[in-house]
Amino acid sequence: MVFDTTYGNTEMAARAVAEVLGWHGPVRTLRAEDVKPGHLEGVTLLVVGTPSRSSRPSDAVRGWLAGLALGQLAGVRVAAFDTRLDDERHRLAAWWARRVGRAADAVLARLEDLGGESAAATDGYRLERVTGPLLEGETDRARAWAEALALAEGAPRAAGSAEGSASDP
Ligand SMILES: Cc1cc2nc3c(=O)[nH]c(=O)nc-3n(C[C@H](O)[C@H](O)[C@H](O)COP(=O)(O)O)c2cc1C
Repeated sequence: MVFDTTYGNTEMAARAVAEVLGWHGPVRTLRAEDVKPGHLEGVTLLVVGTPSRSSRPSDAVRGWLAGLALGQLAGVRVAAFDTRLDDERHRLAAWWARRVGRAADAVLARLEDLGGESAAATDGYRLERVTGPLLEGETDRARAWAEALALAEGAPRAAGSAEGSASDP
């Protein structure tokens, strides 16, 4: 689990996601700026959480992703989420997102460019203001997203081993 945060909200969502993923297997949670090349070795599922910055990923996430080599994520399942202003309260940010897209989608596209295989639709957790807090229930939504992700990752492997077949999707 790789994240960036300025005000702590993306970290809170990332730690919630990591906690749930941790019920299914070992998880390491790192800030983007602290990720070293060796940290990606042996990783089967890479989840990235980013704050929204003008509907794009934060500089730290973009910088880290820019430094990865094409093909480096071959065979790695990837997923991304962002934290974002609540569309209902922040109409300008919502309008901008409709034009530019969402930060998490940009992250997922980059992860796929690097060779990763998308493991889940992106998600976004809504904030009351730029500095937070997350709206009520959003951390629970992050947990549910992580649980669905973990189950989806676990299911094909379990079916494959039970049937001794590598043909599961
Ligand atoms: C310079 C700046 C630009 C931002 N642009 C957007 C934006 O385009 N859309 C949006 O939903 N939130 C935007 N935000 C609010 C961020 O979503 C929010 O600050 C961030 O997700 C909080 O995450 P953090 O607590 O982990 O730092 C912006 C915040 C800053 C400081």
